[in-house]
Amino acid sequence: MIFNEPRVPLQGAYTLSALRELVSSWRLSHNTVALVPTMGNLHEGHLSLMRRARDFADKVVCSIFVNPTQFGPTEDFAAYPRSLVEDEALLADQGLVDLVFAPENKDIYPFGIDNTVRLGMPELSMELCGANRSGHFSGVASVVLRLLNLVSPDVLVLGEKDYQQLILLKRMIRDLHLPIQVSSGAIYRESDGLAMSTRNQYLSTHERKIAPRLHEELKKVGEALQAGQQDYHALEQAAINTLEAVGFKSEYVEVRRTIDLGKPDNMNSPKDLIVVAAAWLGRARLIDNIQL
Ligand code: PAF
Repeated sequence: MIFNEPRVPLQGAYTLSALRELVSSWRLSHNTVALVPTMGNLHEGHLSLMRRARDFADKVVCSIFVNPTQFGPTEDFAAYPRSLVEDEALLADQGLVDLVFAPENKDIYPFGIDNTVRLGMPELSMELCGANRSGHFSGVASVVLRLLNLVSPDVLVLGEKDYQQLILLKRMIRDLHLPIQVSSGAIYRESDGLAMSTRNQYLSTHERKIAPRLHEELKKVGEALQAGQQDYHALEQAAINTLEAVGFKSEYVEVRRTIDLGKPDNMNSPKDLIVVAAAWLGRARLIDNIQL
């Protein structure tokens, strides 16, 4: 990769006091602040969120923290790709953010992760991805709330690929009366339609060729809904069958309401709907969605 001269001088904060000092100095100069939380191993999808953040605020903070509390005991926390040096070089090159905040576990969870305060999330957190990842959204909310407290941004920028996460974090912000606006960025895709994700690198060469089928099947469900089909269950099941036939192990394909991920009834018009899915392909758990 060729790196250019940075367009925005990038600073790094590895301690809470360094973070607070810098953000306070921005506030004194009446700058607004946006936070883009990430778990690092940055790709174009992340960069698109940082570009979006720049449209909303004077200063952009990217946090990089692989959050242990959102991984279940049998999930890929240890294996999750970590590449802080490369991520910082990329961000410095792109000039998209003013500060990288890369805390350690002890900064985020001063009492240790086994004895920490966790947020209880509403019922939706037990459905869809939450049905197979018990405690996941509680872990996500617990870390994002801490990051919001530490960075105190005006705007939180999140990606739409993790759509359930987006809806639940919006809900948390409203429910806890946090004075923070949420802005979401569209899914960034590879040229063959596969949604960009850090976990795509778990795919073998063969699996990588099959992976775009997830997006294709969601598109087919979307087209059927647009054409007026209303038997959601039949459409979901047809997509699951096709995915299983080409090698996926599907967790769910569901038609839901875009606004709140609630279950739609036949009164909902197609434009109110989203098709969401999660499926395993080898070691990779892929998620994707299509908004109509
Ligand atoms: O979407 C992610 O990468 C993570 O869930 C987040 C929001 C950074 C919290 O750890």
